[in-house]
Amino acid sequence: MANLILVLSLLVSCTMAIAFEPSPLQDFCVADPTSSARVNGLACMDAKFVEAKHFFFSGLHVAGNTSNKFGFSIAPVTVAQLPGLNTLGLTMVRFDYAPSGIVPPHSHPRATEIITVLKGTIEVGFVTSNPDNRLISKVLHMGDVFVFPVGLIHFQRNVGWENAISISALSSQNPGLVFASGAVFGSNPPMPVDLVAKAFQIDKGVVYYLQTIF
Ligand SMILES: *[C@@H]1O[C@H](CO)[C@@H](O)[C@H](O)[C@H]1NC(C)=O
Repeated sequence: MANLILVLSLLVSCTMAIAFEPSPLQDFCVADPTSSARVNGLACMDAKFVEAKHFFFSGLHVAGNTSNKFGFSIAPVTVAQLPGLNTLGLTMVRFDYAPSGIVPPHSHPRATEIITVLKGTIEVGFVTSNPDNRLISKVLHMGDVFVFPVGLIHFQRNVGWENAISISALSSQNPGLVFASGAVFGSNPPMPVDLVAKAFQIDKGVVYYLQTIF
């Protein structure tokens, strides 16, 4: 009986483990973007060609350009910018916000996000899954830390008078980014208008309009 429980709990833990990026089986696996190998992540460079520059990125001190309709900018440091992140399950991101700037509701299919405010005052929130769809939100000040659990839709908004800055870490080398509005109204090709109208219980004209915007 004890053996059976042990086997069952091992099975459960294995099942859970494969839902996430596997632990590294070597010190590092610096991404080789030129490799044609198809693996979950990117193929490793030959370790003897690896240098400090592969573990390095410079530029997160630079303010982003927030002159767009949402009033925010995003500077990601994923495996695409920092090849040494390959297989390590981490990303770092800088956000800049104009006054009243927002990061529209979005989700990261592969990562939990932990955020801290470097400057300004930022309202953050996420929505729990069905059936509750509970909004959990808070106003953050400099030095405050908040977490958006993996996969849940969340947003940020600058509610201060000046520009704001935040830094996030995410638990994937490639977290993915799905904007709710962009995915629904800006898909390519567009989703059928009557389907979206029915789903959102709105007029088809509104759907056409939103599809031209996104
Ligand atoms: C910021 O972006 C806007 C819109 O794309 C552009 O017109 C402007 O020149 C940019 N500003 C800077 C400082 O790059």
